[in-house]
Amino acid sequence: MDRIRIVGGNQLHGVIPISGAKNAALPLMIASLLTDDTLTLENVPHLADVEQLIRILGNHGADISVNGRRERQGESYARTIHFTSRNIVSTTAPYELVSKMRASFWVIGPLLAREGKARVSLPGGCAIGTRPVDLFIEGLAALGANIEIDGGYIDATAPEGGLTGGRYVFPKVSVGATHVLMMAATLANGTTVIGNAAREPEVADLAKCLNAMGAKITGAGTGTITIEGVRSLSGARHRVLPDRIETGTYAMAVAMTGGDVILEDTDSSLLETALEAIRRTGAEISETNSGIRVVRNGAGIRPVDIVTDPFPGFPTDLQAQFMGLMTKSSGVSHITETIFENRFMHVQELARLGAKISLSGQTAKIEGVSRLKGAPVMATDLRASVSLVIAGLAAEGETMVSRVYHLDRGFERLEEKLTRCGAHVERVSD
Ligand code: EPZ
Repeated sequence: MDRIRIVGGNQLHGVIPISGAKNAALPLMIASLLTDDTLTLENVPHLADVEQLIRILGNHGADISVNGRRERQGESYARTIHFTSRNIVSTTAPYELVSKMRASFWVIGPLLAREGKARVSLPGGCAIGTRPVDLFIEGLAALGANIEIDGGYIDATAPEGGLTGGRYVFPKVSVGATHVLMMAATLANGTTVIGNAAREPEVADLAKCLNAMGAKITGAGTGTITIEGVRSLSGARHRVLPDRIETGTYAMAVAMTGGDVILEDTDSSLLETALEAIRRTGAEISETNSGIRVVRNGAGIRPVDIVTDPFPGFPTDLQAQFMGLMTKSSGVSHITETIFENRFMHVQELARLGAKISLSGQTAKIEGVSRLKGAPVMATDLRASVSLVIAGLAAEGETMVSRVYHLDRGFERLEEKLTRCGAHVERVSD
């Protein structure tokens, strides 16, 4: 199994190209099941989660072709992928496939809308909390679906004549349930209004693509989304938006090591709250013609408190990385996680590098230390693992991160991007 070896101490200098967003690419790929025409997605990142979803869509009958210009240095990493689901050959998403990645559960929306039925295994994914599916069930029921749970599967059926438009106000913000309800409602009879919808940029990106396919969606990116159902959707070509979590991660890496880096092909408006928090730690962040410039020279890292929240708040997917940064701050900071109840697994691993962190309920108290020391550490989930990389970059000596497959789910060519900026990071295959 691969490991990542980091020798800490180098500053980062150079340019880091930001990939297409994993969390936009996944729902966009799933949306291809809504049409018998071809959906072409550009700027799709090459990640384990994308490959896994390709397998899942293939199981439903999607014909998928990839043209990629990848691998050569200096060229775009992005890939263009064509998805054609002329016929849905199976409306069942089996446990063996769905248990590996939670987002694959989202096929329930398009399958139900297009075929009138779906049998989808209850999901797996990163072990960061209980992550129930009650909001999906209630939302789809509001469109007239009949839903039963049977042997670890959800059996959803639409009434004769298909789903009907409805009104559903989420009691709690859910990104995935918003994606699913929006996709299902595109082909329902009549109009659907979703209240307390997730406002994440990936929801707006999905709506933009669905509208290009012929859907009638307004309000995506706000708390109220209105979808006027249409009879069918066509193909389209859509470019996946930049990965705001990857952008924030590398910005924090520079804030941690010091240096001067341009983050290319991204957009600061996708992560203003996080960039503001990084600024408050003492890094300078500015817009340039070629991208977001992050600089930290000489000055230490100031302690900053954050609380995670749905967009536009501080993203939970950057919480672990920010904690990595705070381990070397010049004082005491507090990080409160409000989205997931078990997203602090990086705490004990950061402690192995010398971090001083104590937990009280959903809040971590981080007492900054002046030096971290490299150690063997274990990745526990996707974002937790990259927080160990950030800490390792600023630790003295060697940090060896095992269980790297977590990183490969969400960070495209991490070691290459960091190495080109002067870091000592390499993949070791045993
Ligand atoms: C998406 O997960 C992201 N995944 C997550 O990123 C991200 O952390 C999360 O949104 C929050 O921003 C993708 O986009 C593929 P939710 P999702 O439904 O949709 C509870 C990463 O590292 N909930 O918004 O699964 C749930 O338990 C991943 O890239 C219910 O209670 O998250 C959580 O506490 C990890 N009932 C909260 O809502 C439900 O039916 C928010 O979850 C559904 C969710």
